[in-house]
Amino acid sequence: MSSASLPVINIGICGLGTVGQGVWKHIERSRADLESRLGAKLVLARASVRDLKKKRAVKLPASKLTTDPMSIATDPDIQIVCELIGGTTLAKDVTLAALRAGKTVVSANKALICDHGPEVFAAARKHGGHFFFEASVAGGIPIIKSLREGLVANRFGRIYGILNGTCNYILTRMDREGLAYPQILGEAKQLGYAEADESLDVEGWDTAHKASILAYLAHGTWVSTKQMLVEGITRITQADLEFARDNGYSIKLLAVILRDFKTGELNVAVYPALLPQSLVLANVHEVYNGVAVSGDVVGETVYIGRGAGQDATASAVISDIADAATLLVRGNAPLPEVNLPKLPLAKPENLRSRYYLRLEVKDEAGVLAKISGVTAKLDVSIASVLQRPGETPGAASLILSTHESNEKAIRATVARLKRLNCVVADPVLLRIVNF
Ligand code: NAP
Ligand code: HSE
Repeated sequence: MSSASLPVINIGICGLGTVGQGVWKHIERSRADLESRLGAKLVLARASVRDLKKKRAVKLPASKLTTDPMSIATDPDIQIVCELIGGTTLAKDVTLAALRAGKTVVSANKALICDHGPEVFAAARKHGGHFFFEASVAGGIPIIKSLREGLVANRFGRIYGILNGTCNYILTRMDREGLAYPQILGEAKQLGYAEADESLDVEGWDTAHKASILAYLAHGTWVSTKQMLVEGITRITQADLEFARDNGYSIKLLAVILRDFKTGELNVAVYPALLPQSLVLANVHEVYNGVAVSGDVVGETVYIGRGAGQDATASAVISDIADAATLLVRGNAPLPEVNLPKLPLAKPENLRSRYYLRLEVKDEAGVLAKISGVTAKLDVSIASVLQRPGETPGAASLILSTHESNEKAIRATVARLKRLNCVVADPVLLRIVNF
């Protein structure tokens, strides 16, 4: 199907700040791929802002820009409304107006969902629209989909995680650079991580909003922030971080959701905690979020990714737009075959890596010279050599590491080494990965 004959989906973006501009930019950039995957034409129809004169990285015609988000929410030509304004007043009005008009709303607004989730979900159900909110928890990590779909077979005894990118960024830099938190907060704001009211981040409320959403998805019970212990990171000092470092811990702001299946009790709390460095989440740093989900069927699964910022959040919003477009265009019908240009596969000489090579060799004079002769001929440069006792009598193990080389050269090297009389077993080749 040519793009011109695809069904058209008009999208309105209410709020063209950090997240809104990310969504606009990435839909523009990936339009062809998205349209091919979805079998629908995505039109960025209109956007709303507070200040028309503000300079923005994303450029759009003045005719598409308004200061009235309600006009987008109620525009009969727009099927998907993205609420990316934030807060719980205007954002609530816009969300409910769009849902009442039967539209699908995509939201990143965890404060709104935590405070008014039941009303918002009910409006979507009543008027036949949908409400998607993947971007509201853990930025680019698809944790909502994971809980709802991938882990649907499970009951969740424990979910805990780092859910605020700003706080994790601040704690990481305090720990690494010995700075106090107010010095780093300004940078987190500039990077687009922090909320418009940054006290929501550093005092733990943003994490609490997200914890409330996860608890609802996992257990079907809304827990308000008033019913939780909520502590932030504002009282953490260098003394706390130093103790943690010296004793094998990391300090992380955690959301903890515990369900006791014997008593039926649920507990949702937010607090900074010392995590043993042996845990994966203790090693999740900077703006990254991490969520560990224990299900009674699957066991523990862990999710890590950027938890805040323009691009990670746009990724989650666009995934919701894609789901919404799919529902609008085809209901339950299967997705079309992806019709993207076929890609050439990478040539071995373009696949670069460092390598580890273990050779079982005769333990005699001149062996090293023969081996380095082969590597030199094929332009594979040795970084280190270690000799250990071999696995058979009269043999030695030579462990070589190389500087960066490529698959073609290393495979040729291994083939030639194998043919040397002094090499007595198949060489073991491992890639030294540094992604
Ligand atoms: P932002 O940069 O402050 O953008 C907010 C946008 O809404 C701006 O375009 C602003 O207009 C507009 N706006 C604000 N108040 C308005 C009003 N009274 N009338 C009309 N327009 C108004 O915020 P953001 O960081 O993109 O966050 C948006 C939402 O996404 C929030 O719910 C936030 O919690 C959530 N979120 C953010 C991130 C992140 O990393 N930033 C991640 C996940 C979720 P102007 O541009 O003219 O000021
Ligand atoms: N302010 C939030 C954070 C944005 O830092 O995690 C992402 O929800």
